[in-house]
Amino acid sequence: MNERVLFTEKEISENLDKLANQIETYISTLPENEQDKIIFIGLLTGCIHFVSDLTKKVESDHKLAFMKASSYINNKRGSLTIDENIPTVKDHHVIVLDDICDSGNTLNAVVNKLLEHKPLSVKTCVLVNKILPEKSHTPDYTVFNINDVFIYGYGLDYDEYKRNLRDIRIKID
Ligand code: IMP
Ligand code: MG
Repeated sequence: MNERVLFTEKEISENLDKLANQIETYISTLPENEQDKIIFIGLLTGCIHFVSDLTKKVESDHKLAFMKASSYINNKRGSLTIDENIPTVKDHHVIVLDDICDSGNTLNAVVNKLLEHKPLSVKTCVLVNKILPEKSHTPDYTVFNINDVFIYGYGLDYDEYKRNLRDIRIKID
């Protein structure tokens, strides 16, 4: 398979340092008695390396939980399924972490579902955002913006493989 590295391990790590700082700044703007009421929720499975690497860089106290959301079947956009097991978010500021925001349908649905459970707030944060003319959700925090191409590695799968890559790649024909 012909492929090209789009974002290296070093670029990802350096940009996660910046993102962690942005998140710390956001947390410091919250009322003092709410600054430890933070819960990160990763959307499995693509978020794994992103969540693991980012949360280790965020020094403020926070909780960590996961939800399962999937929408891609055989590298094509498919129907969306969201796990009904919702972490306890009531009275917490939620930061949803996902690998990539494509159509925005996953994050839009996850945010709406979480809001039913009365959190103090919900922010969304992705490693990669695809720039598309129409999206149902735009993340509050984005590390990399790309055009509408299919990428894999660093948690993102190619037919369920390649999640283990340390960098993010794109297939070239
Ligand atoms: P959305 O609901 O269309 O925003 O899709 C988001 C989900 O689709 C992500 O959480 C990924 O799991 C998956 N996805 C979207 N684009 C890609 C890609 O380029 N590579 C791998 N997975 C992708
Ligand atoms: Mg996903």
